[in-house]
Amino acid sequence: MRGTDTQVGIVGAGPAGLVLAHLLHDSGIESVVLELHDRAYVEARVRAGVLEQGTADLLDGIGVGDRMRSEGSVHRGVNLQFLGRRHRIALSELTGGKAITVYGQQEVVKDLIAARLAVGGELQFGVDSVGLESVDTDRPVISYRQAGHEHRLRCDVVVGCDGFHGCSRHAVPRLRTYERDYPFAWLGILAAVAPSTDELIYAFHDRGFALHSLRSPELSRLYLQVEPDEEIEAWPDGRIWEELQVRLASEGWTLAEGPVLEKGITALRSFVAEPMQHARLFLAGDAAHIVPATGAKGMNLAVADVVVLARALDTWYRTGREDELRAYSATCLRRVWRVQEFSMWMTMLMHRHGDAFTRRVQAASQAYVCESEAAARCLAESYVGAATL
Ligand code: FAD
Ligand code: DHB
Repeated sequence: MRGTDTQVGIVGAGPAGLVLAHLLHDSGIESVVLELHDRAYVEARVRAGVLEQGTADLLDGIGVGDRMRSEGSVHRGVNLQFLGRRHRIALSELTGGKAITVYGQQEVVKDLIAARLAVGGELQFGVDSVGLESVDTDRPVISYRQAGHEHRLRCDVVVGCDGFHGCSRHAVPRLRTYERDYPFAWLGILAAVAPSTDELIYAFHDRGFALHSLRSPELSRLYLQVEPDEEIEAWPDGRIWEELQVRLASEGWTLAEGPVLEKGITALRSFVAEPMQHARLFLAGDAAHIVPATGAKGMNLAVADVVVLARALDTWYRTGREDELRAYSATCLRRVWRVQEFSMWMTMLMHRHGDAFTRRVQAASQAYVCESEAAARCLAESYVGAATL
């Protein structure tokens, strides 16, 4: 049994855990990050792609924005398409100059890991059997195994950044959870083909939702609404492209096809666990909440949580004041529920669902976003992250 100490023990090396470690380092607070998978797995996992203005600014601020600036792309607008008619939402014009940056989450994670290791930060991959002990005390412990050895890490504070399937959330007593499943899922592909668009296209079609996103001048990311219980084997590449061609079709525009490098199906879910803290244990990111992917918010919310937490820990270590730490859950949950509302709204606006009455109401809502500048501004503010606290 090997025992060590640190100030902040962080479970999970996703965006939340890694950004937190950087912010703490900048405040002179020591941390150890413990990750279940190996480095190659974490760096290869294809997930989110849209960074809010504030997330991109934060990555710049902590010194990991160079590759994002050279290889990512700044988008000042986004397209919504309803039954073949494309409508551009001028994000920057509607939000006083704000924009989104399209840059793959796994690239963000690669940049964060490289920067963390460059400053000699402690980041352990391939740990298993993680358990949280003494979480009611002011000396919580993370127990884990690595390379056959048992370890115990005594901490001032433990932060669960271990995603939706992690263990940290289950250590919070009297946790209340709120959940909503949707009657559809997303099939996502990464394709070796130049994007057929400069800005994202979110398309509503009678056959279901489709999304054209981008990764680089040679790589496209596309999604299709599918049934929630769909098997990926039912979707050979030819069927995926056929369906994308139908749903994304718009007059005078063509969708280029290419080899599919990666494909997978992800459920859409809304989930919130309250409170996001217990004594010296804090939850951040997907460990505490999940939003349906339509609003492109999950990674941004994860980063927003740890910004609040890092600030509160900085105050606590510098001054001994606990008020910001005590308010952590309430502060984060205000944003979380606002973002839940937007993500759910955007999901219901863009997917095929419900009966004929629902469809008529949805069509009215879609027309309103296209016809009213006020409605478009609401969408734009939420999408770039200007409408959150
Ligand atoms: P995670 O990224 O899940 O990281 C948790 C880490 O903890 C993982 O590395 C995991 O291996 C590790 N872990 C788990 N259990 C343990 C354990 N017991 N011990 C130690 N480590 C553990 N969000 C956006 O903002 N924009 C988008 O465009 C977007 N699109 C998405 C598209 C798809 C297809 C998917 C699936 C998600 C998308 N998201 C998007 C959501 C986004 O990817 C997540 O919200 C984000 O990864 C959350 O970061 P996190 O650090 O909280 O959790
Ligand atoms: C991407 C993912 C999303 O969930 C979204 O709403 C927009 C883009 C992407 O992976 O690029």
